[in-house]
Amino acid sequence: MAMRLLLLLLTFSAACADEVAFIGVNIGTALSSMPSPTQVVALLKSQQIRHIRLYDADPAMLAALANSNIHVTVSVPNEQLLAVGQSNATAANWVSRNVLAHLPAVNISSVAVGSEILTSLPNAAPVLLPALRFIHSALVAANLNLQIKVSTPHSSSIILDSFPPSQAFFNRSWESDIAPILKFLQSTDSYFMLNVYPYYDYMQSNGVVPLDYALFRPLPPNKEAVDSNTLLHYTNVFDAVVDAAYFAMAYLNVTNLPVIVMESGWPHKGDSNEPDATVDNANTYNSNLIRHVLNNTGTPKHPGMAVSTYIYELYDEDQRPGAMSEQFWGLFNGDGVPDYTLHLTGSGLVLANDTTNQTYCIAKDGVDEKMLQAALDWACGPGKVECSVLQQGQLCYDPDTVGSHASYAFNAYYHKMGMSAGSCYFNGVAAITTTDPSHDACKFPGSNGKNGTFENGTTLAPSSNSTAGSSGAQRPYYDGAAEIIPLIGALLLLTMFLV
Ligand SMILES: *[C@@H]1O[C@H](CO)[C@@H](O)[C@H](O)[C@H]1NC(C)=O
Ligand SMILES: *[C@@H]1O[C@H](CO)[C@@H](O)[C@H](O)[C@H]1NC(C)=O
Ligand SMILES: *[C@@H]1O[C@H](CO)[C@@H](O)[C@H](O)[C@H]1NC(C)=O
Ligand SMILES: *[C@@H]1O[C@H](CO)[C@@H](O)[C@H](O)[C@H]1NC(C)=O
Ligand SMILES: *[C@@H]1O[C@H](CO)[C@@H](O)[C@H](O)[C@H]1NC(C)=O
Ligand SMILES: *[C@@H]1O[C@H](CO)[C@@H](O)[C@H](O)[C@H]1NC(C)=O
Ligand SMILES: *[C@@H]1O[C@H](CO)[C@@H](O)[C@H](O)[C@H]1NC(C)=O
Ligand SMILES: *[C@@H]1O[C@H](CO)[C@@H](O)[C@H](O)[C@H]1NC(C)=O
Ligand SMILES: *[C@@H]1O[C@H](CO)[C@@H](O)[C@H](O)[C@H]1NC(C)=O
Ligand SMILES: *[C@@H]1O[C@H](CO)[C@@H](O)[C@H](O)[C@H]1NC(C)=O
Repeated sequence: MAMRLLLLLLTFSAACADEVAFIGVNIGTALSSMPSPTQVVALLKSQQIRHIRLYDADPAMLAALANSNIHVTVSVPNEQLLAVGQSNATAANWVSRNVLAHLPAVNISSVAVGSEILTSLPNAAPVLLPALRFIHSALVAANLNLQIKVSTPHSSSIILDSFPPSQAFFNRSWESDIAPILKFLQSTDSYFMLNVYPYYDYMQSNGVVPLDYALFRPLPPNKEAVDSNTLLHYTNVFDAVVDAAYFAMAYLNVTNLPVIVMESGWPHKGDSNEPDATVDNANTYNSNLIRHVLNNTGTPKHPGMAVSTYIYELYDEDQRPGAMSEQFWGLFNGDGVPDYTLHLTGSGLVLANDTTNQTYCIAKDGVDEKMLQAALDWACGPGKVECSVLQQGQLCYDPDTVGSHASYAFNAYYHKMGMSAGSCYFNGVAAITTTDPSHDACKFPGSNGKNGTFENGTTLAPSSNSTAGSSGAQRPYYDGAAEIIPLIGALLLLTMFLV
């Protein structure tokens, strides 16, 4: 028994702790003009995206992925789940047509069986475990079960009382479905597939979840979330949700099943009811998420344990019904033009078309002058920007406007912070641009990579190991008039958690 436990522990650490987390991207296809598979693969290659998840197993897409060195998760769509879960032969046939037929040219790394079945197609819950078993046994028969994992993505809404994470548990209505699935995933060395949407946690919290906490922005220490049972500190919603899954599994005595996040993202546009679906927020969330994942930071409960994550999603899907934001979760529009440039300069990895490293942070037009002045004062004071060039008679004094001076100071700060995500914010009055704002003799930091970009070699360009999320302690950060979390309200538990 002790031996077996040790073995399990060893397998677990081999499976996760030593594994390096990756970032992948989901590819939804509800576009009125879906790019051809060849175009999709060309985009993936140009963006150095090495891991993708398809919502089906489209043969044309898989053919285009041949010899691309891209790892692919294929899916059994919900419409096919009943057939696959009711017949071993149908499942074997599915594997044969949608997996075996494409090997070895396509590197298929896992099969996602259904999508959020318990919450979106609850009637099919009884066939979920059989479907997983049948697909798995077909892979065993082909001797591919070690190479190709089988699992099923869940909505995080099946986990209740996620705040604080240590009290989380699976919705008891589903416990009898989930417990045997977890045992199956454990026995097949698979992982728990979870969709994590801090955007919705934030939207549905009636103001209790601070936007900064959802966006991995540094929080002032008095707003940091501490789980009073474990004393673990949470600096972002994402970690809290992943840990809630670990705790909910532990509650069912499953303690060695790694979490892989199959969907996470932030919409960059929405209607008037969705004011936080903005380019700035989407960019901040996804940039910070990528840094956080690639740093292998793990979560407070399992530090250093890789939590690989697939971003939702590659393209804006203009055919998706529902709230306007549903159509704007993409990193690219259907023409392959980026919806925004992720702030990943310096991480040297995926998705950055910002290959020149030439971005600048300037004051936004038409914003409140008092807010600009306050942010300027902060940058030149606590932000420790060298602002002497803004004094009368110095190179950057003219034009003598708050906007012009703020632009210089914001940009100097942004470059001092290595252009890291979140460092061009200033309570919303700053924006990133690719146009060099230098004028006359006034050279802005970052212009040709000079003047202050690497002032002193420390706390500069973030490596792929850094996360903006947990670097708050070291980073002076302009917080403006910080909003105060309401200490009363319906979500008492959450509020206590956030104290
Ligand atoms: C698939 O990816 C795995 C992991 O990176 C690698 O070991 C394997 O060689 C790849 N297979 C093919 C056919 O490229
Ligand atoms: C299901 O099919 C697999 C081959 O795909 C076979 O190895 C397994 O024994 C079958 N299981 C049942 C219950 O028939
Ligand atoms: C738990 O799941 C049941 C069945 O789907 C659902 O009716 C109920 O609302 C869920 N409970 C919570 C608190 O979400
Ligand atoms: C978990 O393990 C404890 C102690 O062995 C046991 O009492 C409990 O019934 C188990 N719970 C489940 C859901 O298996
Ligand atoms: C961008 O900056 C990073 C360090 O911040 C550097 O390693 C890289 O070479 C730069 N890339 C270009 C194209 O200048
Ligand atoms: C992004 O970079 C790739 C590779 O350098 C290039 O082919 C593509 O045109 C760029 N896209 C945009 C919109 O700049
Ligand atoms: C840029 O650097 C040069 C030389 O280091 C210096 O003379 C100049 O004043 C700097 N300009 C600004 C705007 O800081
Ligand atoms: C830069 O670093 C050196 C040595 O690490 C230190 O002596 C110096 O004070 C630093 N300068 C600034 C402006 O921080
Ligand atoms: C970053 O991670 C890489 C490999 O993951 C490692 O070799 C390197 O030492 C790390 N750098 C820092 C500064 O931690
Ligand atoms: C990156 O991860 C290491 C531990 O693996 C952690 O100590 C460090 O704080 C992380 N970097 C940032 C900037 O969060």
